[in-house]
Amino acid sequence: MKKIGILTGGGDCPGLNAVIRAITKTAIGIYGIEIIGFIDGFKGLVENHYRELNFKSVSGIGHTGGTILGTSNRDNPFNYLVSAMGEEPVFADKSAQAVKNINDSGCDGLIVIGGDGTLNIAQRFHEMGVKIIGVPKTIDNDLMATDVTFGFNTAVNTASDALDKLHTTAESHHRVMILEVMGRYAGWIALHAGISGGADVILIPEIPYSLDKIIDKIRFRYRNDKKFSIIVVAEGAAPQGGKMEIQKLVPTSHDPIRLGGIGRKVGQDIEEKTGIETRVTVLGHLQRGGQPIPYDRILSSRYGSAAVDAFVNKEFGTMVSLQGPSIKTVPLTAAIKDIKKVPTDSEIIKTGRAIGISFGD
Ligand code: F6P
Repeated sequence: MKKIGILTGGGDCPGLNAVIRAITKTAIGIYGIEIIGFIDGFKGLVENHYRELNFKSVSGIGHTGGTILGTSNRDNPFNYLVSAMGEEPVFADKSAQAVKNINDSGCDGLIVIGGDGTLNIAQRFHEMGVKIIGVPKTIDNDLMATDVTFGFNTAVNTASDALDKLHTTAESHHRVMILEVMGRYAGWIALHAGISGGADVILIPEIPYSLDKIIDKIRFRYRNDKKFSIIVVAEGAAPQGGKMEIQKLVPTSHDPIRLGGIGRKVGQDIEEKTGIETRVTVLGHLQRGGQPIPYDRILSSRYGSAAVDAFVNKEFGTMVSLQGPSIKTVPLTAAIKDIKKVPTDSEIIKTGRAIGISFGD
């Protein structure tokens, strides 16, 4: 083995640079294998755009946010945008070109760092015979077959910090303060941040909510001299029998779907029904940006280093995975077969209920 290509795909995520650094240092330092990084995720693979990575280029990046390679969550080589000029955008299968570029660059295969969308594409390349190892990334923590994805705990830290700050205004002004957080179709960020940040109500996609139950909780607190309430709502949450809130996109947008708006809806509904002043904060991309917390720097370093070991051990078609205290490998297919949602009978939900949090049900 002489050379491995790497790429970061999907949304940016705290810890990506620590993974890139660990892969590069392990590959060169332990195995004498060269590393090249494809630019902007799979786009660089199709366009044959890459750069060499070495000790110098990964020096001093372990604590930084974003990805020095750039990323994209739009460019699927199997359905690649080749022209956006006409009325209808034109897509084509560019996977053969991508495989040719891997071979022409002298790479033995790829380490792909991404969430479910990126690793689905990685699996398709594996089925075409490309040697692939995956690394589980996403703030949403919704990948199967690993205890946790890197980036998640930094996002929880950011959301929990936001809740601490919102408490100040909530208490001082006797308001209901709502924080809308990311997480797509899973409630992990809302659940963990809500428990850590002392939320009174947590709304997650896995537990459809009733407005009346939320209001019961707010009124109960008022009666007990708590004239403020804190609500965390996951962007994918929805009322019982209702739908998720989806943002209106401009016609030229390549986004399939953009979640968002449920915080405002819940806020308006509460204010209308109770007359209590209710304010909404949408945390958005602050959850993805900035420095990874130490936990994620360490986890990313472990994942990156283990991914190179797995490549050298020829465990192709697998993803590195945290299982208890150890990093192991699992088939990519196990990681992407479904979205990992919050089990509604889990210990952490029980804990939330035990400490008085309402899930709106
Ligand atoms: O998957 C990570 C994530 O931040 C989700 O929580 C969110 O729904 C989505 O990406 C937003 O993506 P974009 O930045 O492309 O709008």
